[in-house]
Amino acid sequence: MNAVITGIAGYVPDKVLTNKDLEKLVDTNDEWIKSRTGIETRHILEKGKGTSFMGGKAVEELLSKTNTKAEEIDLIICATVTPDHVFPSTANIIGDLVGAKNAWSFDINAACSGFLYALATGSQFIESGKYKKVIIVGADKMSSIVDYTDRTTCVIFGDGAGAVMLEPTEDKTIGIKDSILYSDGAGKKHLYQKSGGSVSPASEETVKNREHFVYQEGQPVFKAAVTAMADVSAEIMEKNNLKAEDVSWLVPHQANLRIIDATARRMGLSTEKVMINIQKYGNTTAGTLPLCLADWETQLKKGDNIILSTFGGGFTWGAMYLTWGYSS
Ligand code: COA
Repeated sequence: MNAVITGIAGYVPDKVLTNKDLEKLVDTNDEWIKSRTGIETRHILEKGKGTSFMGGKAVEELLSKTNTKAEEIDLIICATVTPDHVFPSTANIIGDLVGAKNAWSFDINAACSGFLYALATGSQFIESGKYKKVIIVGADKMSSIVDYTDRTTCVIFGDGAGAVMLEPTEDKTIGIKDSILYSDGAGKKHLYQKSGGSVSPASEETVKNREHFVYQEGQPVFKAAVTAMADVSAEIMEKNNLKAEDVSWLVPHQANLRIIDATARRMGLSTEKVMINIQKYGNTTAGTLPLCLADWETQLKKGDNIILSTFGGGFTWGAMYLTWGYSS
């Protein structure tokens, strides 16, 4: 059996935070943000609502679009670094929200590579013949861990979610064909949240020192991302004998337009084949890949060869090669 994506849905909150809005919060400007990152706006979820709210909205739409009853779902995997709570998992909460009474569920934490890790994991349950309907969610409320007094990080991130349905097919020409995944824990020091975990639980001190926010050293992360994302994308093409003309679409993680451009160049792809929506949403961490697929769904045709490619905190990175299974 191949695992094939049979539906896709995305959700972003209504509230928009523009570069001009950020100019009022920190010492930055629209021109710097656009030229260094490609971002113009990002969406922000209101206080009091968590990641499961956005993931739940995406899954509700997915169920409706695919004419699926919630009870038919076997498994829900949610990729996120901004869970509603440390426990239970956000996937559990989403399952309850949508009424997926027969599903079991768990979260995956691989930062910006979370959706790809989750898709690779979920596809195994389909390929083995164990399950018929698996939902993969990528969702993050980055505004809950972004320091809006730190100009080096607050301009980058936004909130959003996406979800896909994975089902089995005997048609070997479509579906997930290959994935290459990596991680390197030595990258932790450049991109992480210092406190709030078991090493440094929340205290008056950690709050005072602003340690519950994203800590990022932009330059080393940028250098590692440019190399790793381009390398792994070229590697999966080579491994599967794919030339640039065989690839219909690149779906890259949306962290920085310059990283996306470098990856596309390395793959020999022209800009029209690259899904880019970073200007609208910023970096929604686990949300970027499914939000791209959702935005481009109407342009996707059965038989399109797609490469998904990511890099994120951990470090974590990887690429997936799949052939799209339906035309809308
Ligand atoms: N507005 C204006 N100036 C800013 C700024 C902002 N929002 N943020 C940083 N700067 C300043 C810096 O302070 C620095 O000033 P200095 O030269 O006086 O010290 C200057 O701009 C250049 O900073 P630098 O960090 O070298 O910028 P950069 O070109 O590397 O861009 C990032 C910064 C964060 C956009 C970039 O490093 C990046 O995208 N990193 C990787 C992000 C990523 O992939 N994250 C994770 C994967 S999920």
